[in-house]
Amino acid sequence: MTDVAERLEELRDRGLHRRLRLVDGPQGPRVTLGGREVLLLCSNNYLGFADHPKVREAAAEAALKWGAGAGASRLISGNMEPHLRLESELARFEGYESALLFGSGYLANTGTIAALAGAGEVVFSDELNHASIIDGCRLSRAKTFVYRHGDLDHLAWGLREAGKRASLIVSDGVFSMDGDIAPVQDLFELSRHHGCRLMIDEAHATGAIGRGGRGSVSAAGLAGEVDIVVGTLGKALGSYGAYVCAGAETVDLLVNSARPFIFSTALAPPAVGAASAALDLLESEPDRVERLQANAATLRSALGAEGLAAGRSSTQIVPIEIGDAGRTMELCELILERGVFAQGIRPPTVPEGSSRLRFTVMSTHTAGELEQAAKLVGAAAREVGLAAVPA
Ligand SMILES: Cc1ncc(COP(=O)(O)O)c(C=O)c1O
Repeated sequence: MTDVAERLEELRDRGLHRRLRLVDGPQGPRVTLGGREVLLLCSNNYLGFADHPKVREAAAEAALKWGAGAGASRLISGNMEPHLRLESELARFEGYESALLFGSGYLANTGTIAALAGAGEVVFSDELNHASIIDGCRLSRAKTFVYRHGDLDHLAWGLREAGKRASLIVSDGVFSMDGDIAPVQDLFELSRHHGCRLMIDEAHATGAIGRGGRGSVSAAGLAGEVDIVVGTLGKALGSYGAYVCAGAETVDLLVNSARPFIFSTALAPPAVGAASAALDLLESEPDRVERLQANAATLRSALGAEGLAAGRSSTQIVPIEIGDAGRTMELCELILERGVFAQGIRPPTVPEGSSRLRFTVMSTHTAGELEQAAKLVGAAAREVGLAAVPA
């Protein structure tokens, strides 16, 4: 048996020990942390729906009408009208025949991959995919071929080697720690050429890219064509839970074989009501998506002017790679002291040696706030020797 204290000590020694911070109040562009107001630059509340009055009211109304919880899994007695309504709204929004709600994006990914791929088959997964995809591959009992990030030649080689055993290609639509967009069109072509399915996880793409925030699949003109689209309700849609969009037969198979769907309580009515209201707002106010994109561009260029390049990012996820975990946390704490909250991200969330400050922008930030934050981060980075003085 491993000793708990020893394991914690090892994490501390490696600069990888994490602790919880306490945010006092709803997620907004500014929050109170430790009794002080700080600019929040690490929330996925991209469009300001988690704290939107209409979304909060919808959650409260759903609680009053349908109760605080669903009481059972969907296949027992927990299936309610709000679940069905939201599924049909999401399917229509994404351009798919059917949608199915899951408890979270983590559960949607693990459940769907494990339901669609099995022993004797091969799943193809980008090396920078989210942990929930990695865990889904492990649970599936299929062999996993991890291709180099965005490397289509490497993927094509793996597909050729696998031949008829190729089952599923799976990729983040917007990569969660790097903010770059997957080559969805190319992945789709490879999936058709090699006769396997394609699954895109739109967790950070929904509400952020594509027409009216419809994500990377829609941006590639492939809505309804890519076999499986996963989205979360917990990020741009401001609530909690997730969904899978696919053809009706695939959804029927998931109802009958995705274990996190079958063996877990249905999504709570307030979460469903909030997500429905957020989706309505997204459709009626698509300018929020444009504001998010403009804000992201502002932060990227303001950090760039401070000598802090955001790597491959072209979205609202703006990482500044530091490398060393300890130094990343040093800079994280220094900017927090000065009023900017952006969490340091360390292994195992990112590969060893690529720890980073990961900024996430919201549509509700002002350009002035973002420019000021970038200056503050630049000055702090120079103070601790992590950035050159701009020319
Ligand atoms: C790419 C990606 N997929 C899935 C998830 C999990 O979604 P959820 O938070 O709804 O469990 C995340 C969350 O961070 C993510 O970044």
